[in-house]
Amino acid sequence: MQDIDLETKKLTHSPAGQFEETRFEKIHNVIFNGANEASIMVASEIAALIRKKAKDNEQCVLGLATGSSPLEVYEELIRMHKEDGLSFANVTTFNLDEYYPMEKQNIQSYHYFMHENLFDHIDIHPKNIHIPDGTVTDDNLYAYCLDYEMQIEAAGGLDFQLLGIGRTGHIGFNEPGSHFNSGTRSITLDHVTRVDASSAFLGIDNVPTKAITMGIGTVSTAKRIVLLAWGANKAEILKQSLKMRKNFL
Ligand code: F6R
Repeated sequence: MQDIDLETKKLTHSPAGQFEETRFEKIHNVIFNGANEASIMVASEIAALIRKKAKDNEQCVLGLATGSSPLEVYEELIRMHKEDGLSFANVTTFNLDEYYPMEKQNIQSYHYFMHENLFDHIDIHPKNIHIPDGTVTDDNLYAYCLDYEMQIEAAGGLDFQLLGIGRTGHIGFNEPGSHFNSGTRSITLDHVTRVDASSAFLGIDNVPTKAITMGIGTVSTAKRIVLLAWGANKAEILKQSLKMRKNFL
């Protein structure tokens, strides 16, 4: 089966082998010529889902990531909103993570990133945007995380989850050692993750040591998950992730 249909901009899914031994890949993966081609494809899938849900009078619940990987997907969604009339009026979003502690107006915050790179350019209702709040007090953090999970559930669950992957193999900020069943919670960032963020924060000492992240359990409840990984520096961790994944899907 073709994986990529450039004409209809559809990503298809080749069924994995029936048995563990006969599977070439533990997780299905598609290789593109470049990030731009792939991002347009992914944005088209998201747009089609939003439109289908709108037609059925339903809310479309998206799980979103920050970082460099999804940038061109967001650019394409903004273009579709401005040029093709794609409306986000029926869209609810839940972001994966936020540094902790972190003020919303800080230019390093994921709150700032999402508004700058997507939300400020589309017609999403502000009340439908959910990003973990890096200003919650320590005492309220546990309850806040449980509530974030409940809000996802109350929204009907994640229809589509967009992911990147960090050099430690983290999705969201689920650093190595995170449990498959983990929910939204606070986490201590891996040193490698903090090193990778250090140039943006102008030095590792300025990078928070903690974050709030959706769990792997949260992410895996999504009806569809697309993980984006571009360039040679993601090749090794991607290879490891695809090989290590066992008995999960
Ligand atoms: C960001 C997130 C992280 C990033 C990952 C890759 O919300 O959840 O897991 O997706 O660190 O970051 P980039 O895309 O900058 O390489």
